[in-house]
Amino acid sequence: MSSTEPLSPLSPLAGKVALVTGAARPRGIGRATAVQLARSGADIACLDIARPYDDAPAHGTASAGELDELAAELRGLGVRVATAVADVSVEEEVENAVAQVSEELGTVTLVANVAGGSGPGFGLGPLLNIPVEEFRRVLDVNVIGTWLVSRACANRMIAADLAGRICNVSSQAGKRAFPFLGPYCAAKAGIILLTQTMATELGPSGISVNAVCPGTVDTNLINKDAMFEQLMGGPEGLAAYVAREIPLGRLQSAEEIAAAICWLLSDDARGVTGEALNVSAGQTMV
Ligand SMILES: NC(=O)c1ccc[n+]([C@@H]2O[C@H](COP(=O)([O-])OP(=O)(O)OC[C@H]3O[C@@H](n4cnc5c(N)ncnc54)[C@H](O)[C@@H]3O)[C@@H](O)[C@H]2O)c1
Repeated sequence: MSSTEPLSPLSPLAGKVALVTGAARPRGIGRATAVQLARSGADIACLDIARPYDDAPAHGTASAGELDELAAELRGLGVRVATAVADVSVEEEVENAVAQVSEELGTVTLVANVAGGSGPGFGLGPLLNIPVEEFRRVLDVNVIGTWLVSRACANRMIAADLAGRICNVSSQAGKRAFPFLGPYCAAKAGIILLTQTMATELGPSGISVNAVCPGTVDTNLINKDAMFEQLMGGPEGLAAYVAREIPLGRLQSAEEIAAAICWLLSDDARGVTGEALNVSAGQTMV
């Protein structure tokens, strides 16, 4: 496409390469983000661990088959797609994955750091009882993983003299305390200051760095097989929780979080950096 040819307003990201981590799990925020970015015309690198954790096999993750299914769905939207299997907390795996997808698709200039989480056997529970390895794992995946992927991509953007945008996924739990989520709260708070510091350091290179802070989102992370609903005491308990806690009166969808991520990765957000945007249906306003 020549530089004078206007982009279709329906494909504002045509010609750009986006990397989404944590992309593959059905109903997840990463998957919804990958689909929305592809609908905007971006070529998509889908990165996911795509295997169970050796040390926390009960913690839900995507499978290799689900990563392949996502890739097929995205190709069906008419964009180029690369997949990479990597644990975002492992430096060598991240470096290899980013090198591989850059080779296949070109320099990544849009980064959605979605991989993360916590749960039973993965940092959930009273702070006085959490095993130290679980606490470290939550920090590694959420904070170190976000940094490693951002570093690998930003170094390549700077080397190619390209501007770019990074969107990290924090949480409302990064802004206020939730009992039994201590490691997760610490990690997600860390992501907010990591975001601000990266925004400060990378701004002069034309790279914006923001975060979204989702509220309570109906994904398999918290609500597989209606797990969250059962935790709240069934449908009536969930309805009471939602009425008490969430001004807009419902859990959020992955697509709603993805929409905010995609906005922060779009030119429309060119004036925004260092922000930690609540997308919580009003559950958190600080
Ligand atoms: N669901 C919520 O209520 C909620 C609220 C606030 C923030 N968040 C955050 O949003 C993000 C996505 O959450 P979700 O609800 O879509 O979760 P999800 O479990 O549906 O998806 C997480 C994805 O990340 C992948 N993943 C996990 N560990 C990885 C690793 N080490 N390396 C690479 N990939 C890895 C999984 O395979 C999966 O595809 C997470 O960072 C989570 O902490 C979720």
